[in-house]
Amino acid sequence: MEPYRIKVVEPIALTTREQREEALKRVHYNLFDLRADEVTIDLLSDSGTGAISAAQLAAGMDGDESYAGSRSFYRFHQAVTDLTGYKHILPAHQGRAAERILFNTLLEPGGIVLANTHFDTTRANVELSGCQAHDLPCAEAKNLDAELPFKGNIDLDALRGWLEGPDGSRVRVVVMTITNNGGGGQPVSMENLKQTAEICRRHGVPMILDAARFAENAWLVTRHEAGYQGHTPRQVAEEAFRLADGCVMSAKKDAIVHIGGFIGLNDPELAEKCERLLIATEGFATYGGLAGRDLDMIAAGLLEVTEPAYLAERADIASHLAGRVRAAGVDILEPPGLHALYLNAGRLLPHIPPHNYPGHALACRLYLEGGIRSAELGSLYLGEEDEDGNPIKSAPYELVRLALPRRVYTRSHYDHVGRTLEKIAKDAASVHGYRIVEQSPILRHFRAKLQPV
Ligand code: F0G
Repeated sequence: MEPYRIKVVEPIALTTREQREEALKRVHYNLFDLRADEVTIDLLSDSGTGAISAAQLAAGMDGDESYAGSRSFYRFHQAVTDLTGYKHILPAHQGRAAERILFNTLLEPGGIVLANTHFDTTRANVELSGCQAHDLPCAEAKNLDAELPFKGNIDLDALRGWLEGPDGSRVRVVVMTITNNGGGGQPVSMENLKQTAEICRRHGVPMILDAARFAENAWLVTRHEAGYQGHTPRQVAEEAFRLADGCVMSAKKDAIVHIGGFIGLNDPELAEKCERLLIATEGFATYGGLAGRDLDMIAAGLLEVTEPAYLAERADIASHLAGRVRAAGVDILEPPGLHALYLNAGRLLPHIPPHNYPGHALACRLYLEGGIRSAELGSLYLGEEDEDGNPIKSAPYELVRLALPRRVYTRSHYDHVGRTLEKIAKDAASVHGYRIVEQSPILRHFRAKLQPV
């Protein structure tokens, strides 16, 4: 059961099918353009959408809003240092700001960055620095149905191949995303992290964690990795951070706050350069674009997030929803992670070709039937067509992500999601595809306008 009770509540919108049909038409079938108060269950993202605790709120009330050297910064600094062990900690307003500052400082045009899988903003920041980003997911990750515990791992042979190959000297950094959001929220094992760190050390390349969901990764390690079953999630997390040379962190996930992030580094020269860019573009080094209250809420959240009872319940609610979804006849990327379930829309809707976006079709139907907002991760996001709509490139899988905000929805909310999917799956043949009528050249899924076909 939930190791907390509800003290403050917020009404959610209960809409009619007609209202949702109208809303979909108005936003040209792009769920990003809905007003949030037209959504009943919002599973678009687990980022910044969590419920803060009474302790976090109280910590925020004690926030010190001094321009420089605030008490809040020192408390934040202590909490992050205790957790990560890094010598230099720089706050930033969110994860992608931390990425921008680190990569702008660390990278030069022509460089290469390797990762188990780059998250979109991480990739974008690597590319904006004039470098290439290559994903090296492990072989098991390709089988969506395989119930293996560490499908978020990097392919160690591929990593060695790159570093020992002709372009090895161009590799500037290896990023390990824990958990692997772009790879279905799957965890990375400590063994994989250790070996990656060892390979990186041998080649003089830093290993940086993208630690947005470090606590969820640690929880899954304590569940499934030999040698870690007696460890607490906090112990695993502390060890993971200490295997790396630094981290970028979006605090909007596993610090359970609405905004925030940080960079952690051991290299003093690199940290100093990052600090200069931070001061010029985010804010002074003791606030980095955040309010004192945000820094205090991060410090409190970082302690709460590794509580075993909290993580156990989070895993349990994800597995509860996974059970409902499977029972509805909808396949998911197995095994379910903690922060999201990824529905296999391509398999549910085989009559819709990739260039008519089966994932998007399912996402729109979830909204129409149940007021549920989700995110397409398929060919609308990753594909490409020519001007006449003929396919040039399609995504490897047509997925829909149901992200689970922290401490927000109860089992009855998720039962509504299960019932809605059951209804859709029974009548899957009636779900139709879409075509794009207007799009932007980059990150098109955010702004595209579509029409049913
Ligand atoms: N890294 C990972 C693994 C992420 O999942 C995200 C954000 C970021 C970095 C960027 O952090 O949003 O604070 O700037 N993921 C969100 C999501 C947006 O919905 O998965 P940010």
